[in-house]
Amino acid sequence: MNIRTLQTTPFTDQKPGTSGLRKPVTVFQKPNYLENFVQSIFDALESYKGQTLVLGGDGRYYNRTAIQTILKMAAANGFGRVKVGRGGILSTPAASCVIRQSQAFGGIILSASHNPGGPEGDFGIKYNTSNGGPAPEKVTESIYDRSKVIDTYHILEAPDVDLDKLGEFQLGSAVVEVIDPVEPYTQLMESLFDFDRIRELLTSGKFRLCVDSMHAVTGPYAKAIIEERLGAPAGTVLNGIPLEDFGGGHPDPNLVYAHDLVEVLYGTDAPDFGAASDGDGDRNMILGQRFFVTPSDSLAVLTANAHLVPGYRQGIAGVARSMPTSAAVDRVAAQAGIDCYETPTGWKFFGNLLDADKVTLCGEESFGTGSNHVREKDGLWAVLFWLNILAVRSESVEQIVRSHWQTYGRNYYSRHDYEGVDADRASELMARLGQLSPELKGKQYGQYEVDYSDNFSYTDPVDDSVSKNQGIRIGFTDGSRIVFRLSGTGTQGATLRLYVESYEPDSSKHDQDTQEALAPLIAIAEEIAQIRNFTQREAPTVIT
Ligand code: G1P
Ligand code: ZN
Repeated sequence: MNIRTLQTTPFTDQKPGTSGLRKPVTVFQKPNYLENFVQSIFDALESYKGQTLVLGGDGRYYNRTAIQTILKMAAANGFGRVKVGRGGILSTPAASCVIRQSQAFGGIILSASHNPGGPEGDFGIKYNTSNGGPAPEKVTESIYDRSKVIDTYHILEAPDVDLDKLGEFQLGSAVVEVIDPVEPYTQLMESLFDFDRIRELLTSGKFRLCVDSMHAVTGPYAKAIIEERLGAPAGTVLNGIPLEDFGGGHPDPNLVYAHDLVEVLYGTDAPDFGAASDGDGDRNMILGQRFFVTPSDSLAVLTANAHLVPGYRQGIAGVARSMPTSAAVDRVAAQAGIDCYETPTGWKFFGNLLDADKVTLCGEESFGTGSNHVREKDGLWAVLFWLNILAVRSESVEQIVRSHWQTYGRNYYSRHDYEGVDADRASELMARLGQLSPELKGKQYGQYEVDYSDNFSYTDPVDDSVSKNQGIRIGFTDGSRIVFRLSGTGTQGATLRLYVESYEPDSSKHDQDTQEALAPLIAIAEEIAQIRNFTQREAPTVIT
């Protein structure tokens, strides 16, 4: 088998975003587009000859094609072994688990997460380092720098590997190992949670649940763990077969896109618990009977109840949340006397804190929760964590959340997304806010007085790296906040995200509708940022 070195010319748009490089499939299908980026990854790395690479994706359209190319390029570039999930499948958390367990050099995950798939949808590629987590900015920057000057790539001339057969195959001087994508992850979950107790609950006849895999990657994982291992009846997992186009849907677990599940949980004869996960399995949405748990509250509840779960019984070192995530978990951390870190948006910022044992649990408002068990957020992990708590406490989801609010107060929280707006106008909105924000302190808007306002900048406490321009925050003296930032994962125009939060300690006021409770702050956000004018939209595309 020959290694071929082929000439290429750079693309100018291969800058990784919040979570790797995401583009429409049609862009990835341009000759050499994928090859250039993969070679740029390899060129940006050092000393991987003979080492192990983990490879897999969420099964979306173009996954198998890309995997064959990457296998041949990894072999040509000198990796000794590539562990690839059967059928090219590995959920993002499972990939992180396999990288860590096999002490791999790193991994390549093929996914555009919750973005729609199919020939007209999106594709994505992301590099994870040996800790199992997304590459930090200094690595993604050097991949990008390399992509701007790349002139050759290396690829093995070889027939395609059979991805559907478990076992080891020789590919040039490398070994390709096709692994079971589910089993290593299942074992890790079993080591963290009380499977016996959860099984008792799920087979008691007194508790019903429904899990929506949204035609995406968690189907095989959820079936193996929740139905086969934990005894939930067949059919508990909805939409459990991964499809290349996710059934034409938008595999994002929120109240808008996970409507199948929402209908079940808000219908008559609703089950006790519902959960959904996204395209690549790292996100989760938790529902009780006619009750929605915000991701920010979910992180706070998991933290407050971690002592009930075997894997976390020995204690929580600290917690971290992304800056726009509500401060609900901060209150739990303060009462427990543990540290709470505020990081920029994106899971990559949690890696150092987890590696240094500064935090055990972390989460984002964007339906992401996770812990030190891997270095990615983990959808099914969150589901199992909740089930473990429910099994121990024998209360409903709603009771658990309401008693949490009673103890800590309630953080009303919502995110408004303006998707696919004009990119230049969105940048102007942000630039204008950047200019305004230093002058807002002390200003009065109705009953709200601005306490601080800035463009969030983060200094990593472990390696002192600085990440600037992470979003405009406007904090008020009563603890309420408004945050503005532009999405780093969208592929069409720009997406403006407005995050709004207010704190209510009085439990007699915990029954308000979220949008009503936040209405004064939403109006202030409009007044300050002129969202309608800049986006030319009357209302947000998605409210979560
Ligand atoms: C979005 C979320 C962010 C998450 C990322 C990857 O990024 O807001 O919290 O880490 O997806 O799942 P954004 O599009 O806002 O840059
Ligand atoms: Zn995802």
